[in-house]
Amino acid sequence: MVDLKNILRGIYICLIAGVLVHCSPKEVSKGNSSIIPKPQSVEEAGLGDFSIDDGTKLFVSKGKNSEFVKEYILNMIDNSLSIKLKPTDDKDGKNTISLVLEASSDDVDFYDVDESYELISSKDGISIKANSSRGLFYGVQTLRSILPSDIEKKNDAKKVSLAVPSLKIVDKPTFKYRGIHLDVGRHLFPVEFIKKYIDYIVMHKMNTFHWHLTEDQGWRLQIDKYPKLTEVGAYRKGTLKGHYTDNLGHDGKRYGGFYTKEDVKEVLAYANKNFVNVMPEIEFPGHSVAAIAAYPWLSCTGKQIDVETKWGVHADIHCTKEKNFKFMEEVLSEVVDLFPSKFIHIGGDEAPKDRWKKCRFCQRNIKKLGLKDEHELQSYFIKRIQKFLSSKGRTLIGWDEILEGGLAKNAVVMSWRGTKGGLEASKKGHYVVMTPYTYCYFDYYQSKEDRDNKSPLAIGGFLPLDKVYSYNPKDEFEKEAKKFILGVQANVWTEYMKTTDKVEYMLFPRIAAISEVAWTNKEAKNWDDFLNRMKDQYKRYDNLGINYKKPDKGEDQGEESK
Ligand code: ACM
Ligand code: ZN
Repeated sequence: MVDLKNILRGIYICLIAGVLVHCSPKEVSKGNSSIIPKPQSVEEAGLGDFSIDDGTKLFVSKGKNSEFVKEYILNMIDNSLSIKLKPTDDKDGKNTISLVLEASSDDVDFYDVDESYELISSKDGISIKANSSRGLFYGVQTLRSILPSDIEKKNDAKKVSLAVPSLKIVDKPTFKYRGIHLDVGRHLFPVEFIKKYIDYIVMHKMNTFHWHLTEDQGWRLQIDKYPKLTEVGAYRKGTLKGHYTDNLGHDGKRYGGFYTKEDVKEVLAYANKNFVNVMPEIEFPGHSVAAIAAYPWLSCTGKQIDVETKWGVHADIHCTKEKNFKFMEEVLSEVVDLFPSKFIHIGGDEAPKDRWKKCRFCQRNIKKLGLKDEHELQSYFIKRIQKFLSSKGRTLIGWDEILEGGLAKNAVVMSWRGTKGGLEASKKGHYVVMTPYTYCYFDYYQSKEDRDNKSPLAIGGFLPLDKVYSYNPKDEFEKEAKKFILGVQANVWTEYMKTTDKVEYMLFPRIAAISEVAWTNKEAKNWDDFLNRMKDQYKRYDNLGINYKKPDKGEDQGEESK
């Protein structure tokens, strides 16, 4: 309800803002509680609506990135109301938006930070309290969702006035690790888009950007010690036409590029301000054709090959001769120097053993080390990387194939071939990130229409919004093993995503569903309620200019998804 005071405030806002869309006090735009991901608890507090006006003040406790958070909220309010909040030192003053750090857990390991927050809005103001700056920032994201979707419009001449409903929100994430991945090996995207991608991650209270930086079709990271990785390995002769099963060959257009260390630093600074961890992935021993094209001695055969133009899994992988370990250590040293992430992803997936079976170095290693087979040799390879990363104070994370032949101590498993790998690893006391393709592969088709028309073209599969939403990672885990689930991630493999528009189309709105899987307790999740809240979210996506997949009629998700 809009009370008298708010009506008067509404009129006032109308007068001062000049060009208002809603000038009748009755039409004072009122915020909502269409918050995505859904908080653990939202109650009507009954303490009176709050109207943000020209006299509203802003208090932000000093802490990590507090100047950035202050700017962020100032801009957010300015965008919607043309009102510049007045900074104040009085956290308890009237007519104040107050962000109060109650304790500081900012300096612990990234995934140990207390991300909880409490938001209370009343007629006197809005109070957000948290035990970390990140928690406060998530409170700000929630405030953003409560305010009308028009606040997302940039440089919009039409300003709205608004009243904030009286709510009490107590919130914290279900999982510590909430990741969104992007493959920049198959297709490359500019730094400006990577920063936008981080904005999308933040908006959904995800906290990890998994940057898949090396592939058969392109090596994308400057490594000073091995310049050919980018001089040669970052460029391919062409990009496959159509779907790879169409056998249409490639387009003959040289394609490539890479991120310099300066580019990476720019992304890292941006991510850090936004409380996002950037986890790099450098693939070993498979998906390494681009590296081998740059330095053929990395392979078992030593033959010169081209950077790959076909998608898929390829036979040439890193050999296990000693020189390769030196390469691996030197490359990872530069990676570790650049990226502060505790977790360093080293791939480990889809490494065919054909070459190792025929290689005298690899076979000699198997004999010398008393290993049973090539799987144990892969395990040896991964364990050596783990030991090295450990010496640098980092933790190895890899795709679930790293389980084969025995898992390196302390390694974290990313379970992608279904959930089996995650279950097995957790039983052995390893932490896991769940990203089974059945729920988390955003390169799959989203609707039957797209799939049947093969347009826009995708890799295959079928993963509609409701299927993503239905995922409850803990369901399959036994009681004791549940505590080893670090979190959840969605993967965006880009074989069929040449443009940033296409990436957005595949990511949205499924990112909203995965955010609720990662953040909200299973008991609080509800599909119909989610769809209802998505109505407001779609308006936000429109206002942000995001190329999202529009909802199907009646959101008729496929029966295959049930
Ligand atoms: C993967 O999808 N190959 C991890
Ligand atoms: Zn070999």
